[in-house]
Amino acid sequence: MVDETLTSKVSLNDPLADPQQKAIIDQIIDENSARPGATMVVLNELQASIGFVSEGMQKYAAERLHVPVSRVHGVVSFYSFFTTTPRGKHTVKFCMGTACYVGGTPALIEKAKQVLGIEPGQTTPDGNITVEVCRCVGACSQAPVIVIDDEVTGRMKPNKLAQALKAVQTIVE
Ligand code: FES
Repeated sequence: MVDETLTSKVSLNDPLADPQQKAIIDQIIDENSARPGATMVVLNELQASIGFVSEGMQKYAAERLHVPVSRVHGVVSFYSFFTTTPRGKHTVKFCMGTACYVGGTPALIEKAKQVLGIEPGQTTPDGNITVEVCRCVGACSQAPVIVIDDEVTGRMKPNKLAQALKAVQTIVE
């Protein structure tokens, strides 16, 4: 039986406030809570089914799994495939591997902030673009590298990036 007080303080736009999504979240926790490594399994399933693991979901999962919230936060922030907010329709990743970092990734991220008005880890308010950083994608000879959706582009320059981001902004699905 789920203690309703666990969800009494979630924000209105949290998946836990939506009865259908909450049912999915409860089912995932119910089905996996007794497994070894339950925290990781549950978080993976939540990310896959809901699309992100909100702060409220992290707290709820921690309480229902009887683990400290700090452990859940730690897992979510360590692995880059977890997100705490919904991802945009498109993802722009900046490689932070050594070659790319030295080759100019910080200047590219600055340019992205100017063009899109968001930091890595955030999504544009229209829900179109999420900006992330990533580890080496294996194209170091073309540093600095960005990845737009699944397409890798190397030898990126700030001005070229601005054009590429504007092109993504105008893609209509
Ligand atoms: S360091 Fe960026 S692709 Fe290897």
